Amino acid sequence: MLRTRVTEMFGVDHPIMQGGLQWVATADLVAPVAEAGAMGFITALSFDSPERLRQEIHRCRHLTGRPFGVNITLLPTMRPPDYAGMARVCVEEGVPWVETAGNNPERLLPTLKEGGVRVAHKCTSVRHARTAVSLGCDAIVIDGFECAGHPGEDDVTSLVLIPATVDAVDVPVIASGGFGDGRGLAAALALGAEGVNMGTRFLATREAPVHNNVKRALVERDERSTRLALRSLRNTIRVLHNRVVDRILEIESRPGRVDFAELAPLVSGTTARREVWEKGDVDGGVFTAGQVTGLIHDVPTVAELVSRIVAEAEDIVCRRLPGLMA
Ligand SMILES: Cc1cc2nc3c(=O)[nH]c(=O)nc-3n(C[C@H](O)[C@H](O)[C@H](O)COP(=O)(O)O)c2cc1C
Repeated sequence: MLRTRVTEMFGVDHPIMQGGLQWVATADLVAPVAEAGAMGFITALSFDSPERLRQEIHRCRHLTGRPFGVNITLLPTMRPPDYAGMARVCVEEGVPWVETAGNNPERLLPTLKEGGVRVAHKCTSVRHARTAVSLGCDAIVIDGFECAGHPGEDDVTSLVLIPATVDAVDVPVIASGGFGDGRGLAAALALGAEGVNMGTRFLATREAPVHNNVKRALVERDERSTRLALRSLRNTIRVLHNRVVDRILEIESRPGRVDFAELAPLVSGTTARREVWEKGDVDGGVFTAGQVTGLIHDVPTVAELVSRIVAEAEDIVCRRLPGLMA
């Protein structure tokens, strides 16, 4: 067994986490992750109200008696969702951990911390990790440039970002972005992290509630199959390359100021949810995926995936690396 401060603080068997995955990290995925001995997070933004989030927490508790958390992603939007209500639900439901992401979590911390909820903040730079810890966050999830979703604008890959973050903060650090197998887990531990967070790899599992065409695409594509969109707006997202992404990149490459009104329908989350996740048209909308796509070759169950990753990492730590000693 691999034991770290991350397994201790989450109260789980393995130093593996499934963080926020909008529309995907419902109880259908989070409960199997918990049952496999890892830590899963229901993504609050998949639900249109705090009460719907509460129902999903209940549904997940019905499916597993093991610990799980809630991800609250703070998006820069004109009409913000009821973040305070989501935090209140987490407190009322006795959720042990919240993963915050997307922006400074300061406004949620009084409610969460006074309510006994511990907070792992996900960010993409050392300076933001330092700030989160100074505000009282209990752990850092650090997302390297390889990651699916929002890698930030600094473009620092996990190989440098992880040890730099470990050196900068004294709370447990969870490495994120580019992890999908036991080699990655062993490498993250060697770099000083105490666990890994995986997004794209959990998409390609049997239980992930998305169309099989998406899972098949992740198996078929390689490590060159993602693109960075919305760079022109300094709101970069790493997405799987498809026809919609080509249209976005064409608009962004035109000289002059980019008109967001032209991009908005192309990056619509609602369209992606319907066309990609539900109907399985992988060219039907924009969806996030990381470079780790190049390491995905099958669609196992969550339990098979987690136990395979742990066995491979243990083999590296206990046999392969000691065997290198002269
Ligand atoms: C389909 C998908 C949806 C995601 N949605 C969210 C989200 O709503 N909130 C969030 O904090 N991170 C989100 N992420 C990012 C993941 O939590 C994680 O940080 C990232 O996937 C790590 O990189 P990896 O894909 O290389 O493992 C999403 C990732 C994917 C693949």
